[in-house]
Amino acid sequence: MKKVLVIFISVCISALYILSAISQILPPGLPSDIDGYTNWTRLNKKVLRPRSADPHSGYKRLYVNKKPNELLTQNRKQIFPYPEETIIVKEVKRTAQKDSDIILISIMRKLPGNEATGGWDFIEYSRFSGDSFTQIQFPKESCYACHQGASKTDAVWTRFTNFRK
Ligand code: HEC
Repeated sequence: MKKVLVIFISVCISALYILSAISQILPPGLPSDIDGYTNWTRLNKKVLRPRSADPHSGYKRLYVNKKPNELLTQNRKQIFPYPEETIIVKEVKRTAQKDSDIILISIMRKLPGNEATGGWDFIEYSRFSGDSFTQIQFPKESCYACHQGASKTDAVWTRFTNFRK
């Protein structure tokens, strides 16, 4: 009987672990269309580390709401421009640790009505204290002013490198 109980408890614990890994609780203040973004395709393989003249300082992981085969040709070349309704999320953490605090979320969305900013809507959220994120008042035109430097790659600086060649 005792053995059965031990097995039962360990099954429950592993189920909880799996569930918490799959489901992600979006912190308050962030838009619902990025819910579950940590399960999206990772654009960059390695975490981007802070560097001098860093536009968004911290440890960054980038995610895109498209499957690798929607981003690549059969020869594994990246397709530009990104399709309509692409969402790219840049998650910025304070330290290199996986469970470190998220301090900034930058988002690019490919949506109609953004012709003046390369087809992308740019928006950014930060948290200054507590759990809740607030939108940073930074005009999307100013985001694009810098991002248009990456015009060859559809105004997205980071190329999709996170796939097996
Ligand atoms: C001074 C230049 C500059 C400005 C201004 C800027 N960015 Fe970026 N952004 C970058 C660079 C460079 C990267 C490449 C990855 C990195 O190091 O952060 C990047 C990366 C990103 C990414 C990940 C996709 C990519 O392009 O690699 C998103 C999303 C993003 N920025 C959103 C924004 C938003 C939203 C704003 C405005 C609130 C903004 N950026 C303003 C330079 C800039």
